[in-house]
Amino acid sequence: MGVNIRGRHYLKLLDYTPEEIRYLLDLSKDFKRLKRSGTPHRYLEGKNIVLLFEKTSTRTRCSFEVAGMDLGMGVTYLDPGSSQMGKKESIADTARVLGRLYDGIEYRGFDQELVETLAACAGVPVWNGLTDQFHPTQMLADLLTIEEKLGRLKGVNFTFMGDARNNMGNSLMIACAKMGLNFTACAPRELFPAESLVKEAQAIAAESGCRVTLTEDVKAGTKDADVIYTDIWVSMGEAEEIWETRIRLLKDYQVNRAVMDNAKDTAIFMHCLPSFHDTKTTIGRQIADKFGLEEMEVTDEVFESRQSVVFDEAENRMHTIKAVIYATLC
Ligand code: CP
Ligand code: NVA
Repeated sequence: MGVNIRGRHYLKLLDYTPEEIRYLLDLSKDFKRLKRSGTPHRYLEGKNIVLLFEKTSTRTRCSFEVAGMDLGMGVTYLDPGSSQMGKKESIADTARVLGRLYDGIEYRGFDQELVETLAACAGVPVWNGLTDQFHPTQMLADLLTIEEKLGRLKGVNFTFMGDARNNMGNSLMIACAKMGLNFTACAPRELFPAESLVKEAQAIAAESGCRVTLTEDVKAGTKDADVIYTDIWVSMGEAEEIWETRIRLLKDYQVNRAVMDNAKDTAIFMHCLPSFHDTKTTIGRQIADKFGLEEMEVTDEVFESRQSVVFDEAENRMHTIKAVIYATLC
């Protein structure tokens, strides 16, 4: 039977079957071909979407805007500073208003419960643009990039290094389990994903014929990896004071030349971005001044190396987000 996700929300990959994820990846490839060949695809003309951001963004916001405009839609961007959201109006009330005006709503914010509430109240599809727990639109871009670079998903050895219980660690563990990649979280025990989510991922992985492993051992965790993935050590919404502890916990989990050399020769390096790989950002400079660390989760050498696919990955955000919008609204 064909896959049909019209009218559905896109809140976390746990809600989607491997067949539905496959459908979204294939649709993304179609949209990428159309975009690259300059073929117009204004399939959703007359529809309008709104993008709600309670945290900052470059890739996700711009991908939703370009995807929406390419599909011929009207796009509105709202942040807490330019709307009543949060301060004067609850998420539930905001959802009920915006659901009357728009055909779809993107939301980036804090607790996953907020986007789930928004979805329950909106009456139109809601897309999660990142919460503290999950980042599901990033997952499609990451899977698409791996498939483009390595030619397959099933059986790929995927290692995530860093804060493995943040939105990226959680989401990548579920994405890999669903699509048959062997997932390893290589992190200090304090930053392992929650036990309940690991159990859930392991049960999914057993059905897909792959493994979910947690290890503190960098050598064992990165050995023969096809993909080495990392993320910033302190996520949006976390207190500034956390940097000190996080650096202490994660400095041995930096992706550097030794890590890449321990992985397969054909291994690729991935990062959702933004990244602290030098001191050319305000925070990067502050950390260097305070802690003497000029590169954090990844060295500049690896970030700029031929193994790094981070900008292809960033481009794929747009093609995959377009697929999600189209498939849920068409
Ligand atoms: N990867 C990602 O979500 O980037 P932004 O925070 O810039 O949207
Ligand atoms: N873990 C990061 C991901 C950014 C895309 C954050 O939440 O800030």
